[in-house]
Amino acid sequence: MSSASATLLDNHIVVEAWNTVLFDKFLRFKHLLVAGLSGHSDELLSRGLYRMGERILDVGCGFGDSTIRIAELVGPEGRAVGVDCTENFVRSGRADAAAAGAENADFFAADVQDDDLRGPYDHAFARFGTMFFMSPVAALRNVRRALKPGGSFAQIVWRKREDNPWLHEAELRVREIVPVVSHEETDQVHCGPGPFSMSGPDMVSAMMKAAGFVRIAFERFDTDICIGRDLAEAVEFAMALGPAGEIIRLAGDEGERLKPKVIEALRDTLGPYERKDGVWAPSSTWFITARNPG
Ligand SMILES: C[S@@+](CC[C@H](N)C(=O)[O-])C[C@H]1O[C@@H](n2cnc3c(N)ncnc32)[C@H](O)[C@@H]1O
Repeated sequence: MSSASATLLDNHIVVEAWNTVLFDKFLRFKHLLVAGLSGHSDELLSRGLYRMGERILDVGCGFGDSTIRIAELVGPEGRAVGVDCTENFVRSGRADAAAAGAENADFFAADVQDDDLRGPYDHAFARFGTMFFMSPVAALRNVRRALKPGGSFAQIVWRKREDNPWLHEAELRVREIVPVVSHEETDQVHCGPGPFSMSGPDMVSAMMKAAGFVRIAFERFDTDICIGRDLAEAVEFAMALGPAGEIIRLAGDEGERLKPKVIEALRDTLGPYERKDGVWAPSSTWFITARNPG
């Protein structure tokens, strides 16, 4: 087997995970995810990145709320195009765009790592849509090739774990209780490199450079996000998603058996973030901007 086909096979496991278990979990917590993650994209998209009439690609668009927001920014003469590897997310994006009357928002299903991305685009955008590729440089290069010369790529990715305690502290507590099964030890589908795979600017700038981007810049952005309308929901959210959720899922029956202990530990860990209006925790991202040469 060639190394290229081995990479393709590996990514199929990730795509399968997003199409099945991870989509179901995202749907369950759509209200928290859309509101919380928008806290980061609203800031970046408020800065006049895009002009009326431009055509923008939204990479790993998920539910497509960011795609619909970009469609508003480029106006009826422009187009916002959301790409995601799952038919489920694409269907959801189309339905939400139709409900919002966003006629200039399109969605299609493709693996960003190696499928045709239907360029050329003036610019590309990704909110937490680039951290899960098994071959990130190949995927970033594929995005660059879909851009016009001089087109920009603006990405939002999580910064280091310690500045995202709602994910990291939950993971540490779960690790104390649930035996960790690595991706290599399981036949189960998994989310790939994971949410912190692009948190290191030295490594990521090298990846961006290898993918052919220039003028690569990192800006830190911090904001508190709501991780549950109450503590019980915040605990459920932590047990379903992120590294903690993946540890519990991959542990199978043992993960299920240990859930009562995990719930107790997570109530203790996330309790300090509870306020009158829900559970709010600090979160921190990089805004990464770069250009296709030309
Ligand atoms: C953490 S979610 C972010 C979704 C959305 N951008 C948001 O901020 O809510 C990551 C998204 O990337 C998509 N994704 C993962 N690997 C992909 C790939 N190889 N090609 C296209 N989309 C991919 C997943 O299906 C998922 O919708």
